[in-house]
Amino acid sequence: MKTAFITGASRGIGLAIAEALKEDGYTLFLNCRHMETLEPICQRLEAHPVCFDAGSFEAAAAAFDACVWPYVDHIDLLVNNAGISYVGLLQDMDPDDWSRVISTNLTSVFNLSKLVLPGMIRRQTGNIVNISSIWGQTGASMEVAYSASKGGVDALTRALAREVAPSGIRVNAVACGVIDTTMNAHLDPQEKTDLANEIGLGRFGRTEEIASVVRFLASESASYITGQILTVDGAMI
Ligand SMILES: NC(=O)c1ccc[n+]([C@@H]2O[C@H](COP(=O)([O-])OP(=O)(O)OC[C@H]3O[C@@H](n4cnc5c(N)ncnc54)[C@H](OP(=O)(O)O)[C@@H]3O)[C@@H](O)[C@H]2O)c1
Repeated sequence: MKTAFITGASRGIGLAIAEALKEDGYTLFLNCRHMETLEPICQRLEAHPVCFDAGSFEAAAAAFDACVWPYVDHIDLLVNNAGISYVGLLQDMDPDDWSRVISTNLTSVFNLSKLVLPGMIRRQTGNIVNISSIWGQTGASMEVAYSASKGGVDALTRALAREVAPSGIRVNAVACGVIDTTMNAHLDPQEKTDLANEIGLGRFGRTEEIASVVRFLASESASYITGQILTVDGAMI
């Protein structure tokens, strides 16, 4: 039995990844903060709901004890997908908002990796895929905290890949461009058209187009790929 844990799986990219991995035969453990949205998805995908704030290590550890470890003794694939954005000037940003972006997008990757790595190391195999952003590479005006968090995810990915490679564990990231999800729902139609015009392929990416890359990185076809940040942005940067 192959097991996968996906954070932020109730909609958008995380949900598309869950659906793709279900097709690949994984037993799924799906996370987000709201049980009312997670439960019906878990029923449809025959998955285990694991509801907690991924930015809190205490909450994550308690949820694993209650909802994961009673059923399986290891996770084969961890997808760190949970993320939030914050659009605004740095000087107007509240310190609490800074902390929330960093804990949700970056500290969560530490939290979940720390929980699954002992089982992976014991079995000398495992896979971690982190969902990053092109803004982690270029930086985005009005998204300083978000860009910093994703730059951190990229550095964490490269460093952890080196650290756990001797244990047969691979760690990679997918740096997404603009993907059509609720994260971009704040844009009006004209802003969406202008943004699409900045993309080589002339359109936003689809969630399935990220899920298929995660699927590839998790597969044996990618058995010699680790420590990489794979950019999937339709030629935006
Ligand atoms: N869409 C894009 O253009 C784009 C571009 C680059 C990178 N990305 C990255 O792709 C990932 C997914 O984004 P998306 O566009 O699919 O966003 P989305 O549609 O807003 O979905 C975000 C998911 O994360 C969950 N979530 C948020 N905060 C959480 C927390 N503290 N703990 C656990 N779950 C949490 C949400 O559920 P709850 O709110 O119920 O917790 C939801 O399931 C993020 O890491 C994002 O930064 C997206």
